[in-house]
Amino acid sequence: HRNKLPPDKDNSASSNEYFNKALQHRHNNYKTDNLRVLGVDELGFVPPCDISGRECVSALHRAKTETCKQIIANISCLIKTNPPYPKRLPHQCPTNDVKQTTIIGCFRDGKEIKLLPGYKTTLIYTNSQENCIDLCLQSGFAYAGVEYGTECFCGNETPEWGLKLPDTFCDMQCPGNLSQMCGGHYTINVFKTGVSKFIAKIASEPSPNFKHNNIPPVRIVFLLTLNGRAVRQVYRLIKALFHRDHYFFIHVDARHDYMFRELSKLELTLSNVRLSRRRHSTIWGGASLLTTLMDAMSDLVQSSWDWDFVINLSESDFPIKSNDALVKFLTVNREHNFVKSHGREVQQFIQKQGLDKTFVECEARMWRVGEKELPKGIIWDGGSDWLALSRPFVDYLVAGDTLISGLSQFFKYTLLPAESFFHTVLRNSPFCETYIDNNLHVTNWKRWLGCKCQYRHVVDWCGCSPNVFRYDDWNRIKNTEKKQVYFARKFEPIINLSIIDTLEVWLYGEYPADFKNRMSYWQNLYHYDDVYPAPDESLLIVGNSLARVATKHLTTSHTTCQIRTLDKLLQVFTYHHKDKFKGFLIQYEVSFSNNSNKLLFESWCWPKLQGIIILNKDPINRLLNFIVSSDFDKKEQMSRNFIRLIGPYTEPVLIHQWGAGEHSFAVTFLWLNPYDELINVTSTNIEESALITFSKPILPMPLSQGIWTVLLVYENVTMAYTQFLVTPLHTIKDTSIPASQMSTINKPQNYRQSFEDWTSVIKTFKNSIVLETKNKFIDRTKTKITSWVDNLITSAYNILETCIVIPCKSLNDCGLKELVTCAETSWSSYSPDPKSDIKSINKESGTLN
Ligand code: UDX
Repeated sequence: HRNKLPPDKDNSASSNEYFNKALQHRHNNYKTDNLRVLGVDELGFVPPCDISGRECVSALHRAKTETCKQIIANISCLIKTNPPYPKRLPHQCPTNDVKQTTIIGCFRDGKEIKLLPGYKTTLIYTNSQENCIDLCLQSGFAYAGVEYGTECFCGNETPEWGLKLPDTFCDMQCPGNLSQMCGGHYTINVFKTGVSKFIAKIASEPSPNFKHNNIPPVRIVFLLTLNGRAVRQVYRLIKALFHRDHYFFIHVDARHDYMFRELSKLELTLSNVRLSRRRHSTIWGGASLLTTLMDAMSDLVQSSWDWDFVINLSESDFPIKSNDALVKFLTVNREHNFVKSHGREVQQFIQKQGLDKTFVECEARMWRVGEKELPKGIIWDGGSDWLALSRPFVDYLVAGDTLISGLSQFFKYTLLPAESFFHTVLRNSPFCETYIDNNLHVTNWKRWLGCKCQYRHVVDWCGCSPNVFRYDDWNRIKNTEKKQVYFARKFEPIINLSIIDTLEVWLYGEYPADFKNRMSYWQNLYHYDDVYPAPDESLLIVGNSLARVATKHLTTSHTTCQIRTLDKLLQVFTYHHKDKFKGFLIQYEVSFSNNSNKLLFESWCWPKLQGIIILNKDPINRLLNFIVSSDFDKKEQMSRNFIRLIGPYTEPVLIHQWGAGEHSFAVTFLWLNPYDELINVTSTNIEESALITFSKPILPMPLSQGIWTVLLVYENVTMAYTQFLVTPLHTIKDTSIPASQMSTINKPQNYRQSFEDWTSVIKTFKNSIVLETKNKFIDRTKTKITSWVDNLITSAYNILETCIVIPCKSLNDCGLKELVTCAETSWSSYSPDPKSDIKSINKESGTLN
């Protein structure tokens, strides 16, 4: 289950103190004091009611467009005066006497029993030939990290707590004592009869001798909700799950053209793959994610596809069991619905999740605008939004009733709606008895890393995210071998490919010895057809400049065939090998003067500005990495800006990594602009333990273009330095930057006054190290600007190699330098990548070749 609280660092607080602290932390992050009621003058429209709530006022201050401001004002007024959802909803679950049920089903040795404080937990089993009924009562169970024993009661005893067992199990041993439990009141009843629908098949593994016999295997729809550019990983995921009897229904975030285009190609050859045309901007935690799932389910119900289950997955999920195992499991559990519950007290969950707050989605953001009241009369539940839902339940969801329409309205204004909507419908619907507390997933939660309020740019709330599995986490996955989990998340080959490789070998056996590029990964960063997201201006400048420089080097000096022009930068990829970033690839088209054909090339480039240690002595010999980049991902402890593109409006971060040492010490960073002016000074303490950390200076924007230098000073001596390029932008969004702004970007900034103390340190450094001097922007005439840009860019990036995509005979006549064909290299994006190749369907197995 997910837990969006910030980490309980000292681990000393009791559960409740921790919760309250965390909640306070959340609220503090959105302090909106000293705000006034907004009037017509400021809003530009008449709000339907007086808007005085500080959260709403804050949202209205921050929203940019009038449409969004109007939506915020309208919804806040509506929720306050006349909520667009019922005050009470019907509870239609026939087992009314059970306040809350956690169905554990049949469990075996060592399986943890989770108890919810204050709730009755019903354990239901059945004895059927194919399925296990071994109740494991001997080892006790863990709650809140503490092991407790169990106590059993048999026959006519009516215990207040403990396990009431059916007679057949009376001879089992139940040592331990429940009374030690931390203040809670726990009751477990074990029913043998009257609940035959909850048969133990639900959560039990099919026994080894289980055969499908007359039961047809289930057909699954994999509902993929995707964003980003990890296309090759999505291809790999589809390959792993594919069978001609299953289906793929894919939604791609409306803002991600490249993923959509690349996956659309699959529709042409695979009839069981379809992309949704009802596309939404599915921001993290947004109401739009529920709309997307419901739209998809409605499309699926209306489609001619014949399916039994729908399982939603993202680009960062991957199977950890074979498809066969999944199909067998669902076939014996076809009546049931798999969702994972939060496992806390309901009220805590509601607060933690912000269910009682109103959120409004616009401008691709969830704005928090005030409180809201939960409809009464139903059981509230939630947890993970990764689900496996049965066809009858999905039919019911799509057909709708009062419960569903009421909850749909309520969740329109709720953060992370998909994490609670399905659970709550299930608990209160006629399908309540089909609820299984298992989302079939193992999730890599590392809350001390994943709960850093990292979604503040899209939601007014502090959200958490699971971490990416790395090779070191392998045991976590391997240990699920006997558990009823079939998927894991998250995987990102751009961060760690070896874990995916290890997993696939584990699942499907060793790769053939001649399998190409197992440990290489390419991810597209730019495609010339992209409209959304708009390409990064710095990337275009750097890509075009390097393509220009590479093109110049293509022809030999004595050739008759001259390059006419660099026609177009086509694509940019990052290239990774053995979990290391190995550079980036630019793909471009070139015309030659005596050849009408355009030729396609790819060049492998490398950002060469690294940290340099000048004095490698204690404690600086602990320094392992020292670079400037941006987009530091606090959860994964790395910069996602591999190419280290920094434009005049980018906020740079200094990333420094240290090995462990014996004592802590202080270092100072001096930021010098291309004119050697000291722009910022930051100090930080480096602790004894190994760490990766970052410093984010406040620099005046726009940043001066050219090469900046950061000095690492320890005890008044520069021990190391690093440089970074602020990309020279002469256009922003295809428009030339006005001359007035160009000069601001390019002139010295006169920041001398406040940092005088450092003059001698800087002077000593400058006297001892010769730095790049191509920095300065001297002549702004059109022809010179290009050569200035190219000069600057080649002092920050190297071109390592170039290949030609399609070799042609006339090339020799053209006098092109000897060039390798891209497909023959190991680094080009055209190099074979069979792990992500989707070819045809294998007629025998029904899987992909
Ligand atoms: C966690 C939980 O696992 C998930 O249940 C919850 O919905 C969000 O928090 P996390 O890893 O943080 O997941 O989110 P992520 O998997 O990145 O995103 C959730 C879904 O939203 C994915 O399907 C993803 O593709 C989609 N998404 C995310 C978008 O479509 N666009 C975005 O900009 C971000």
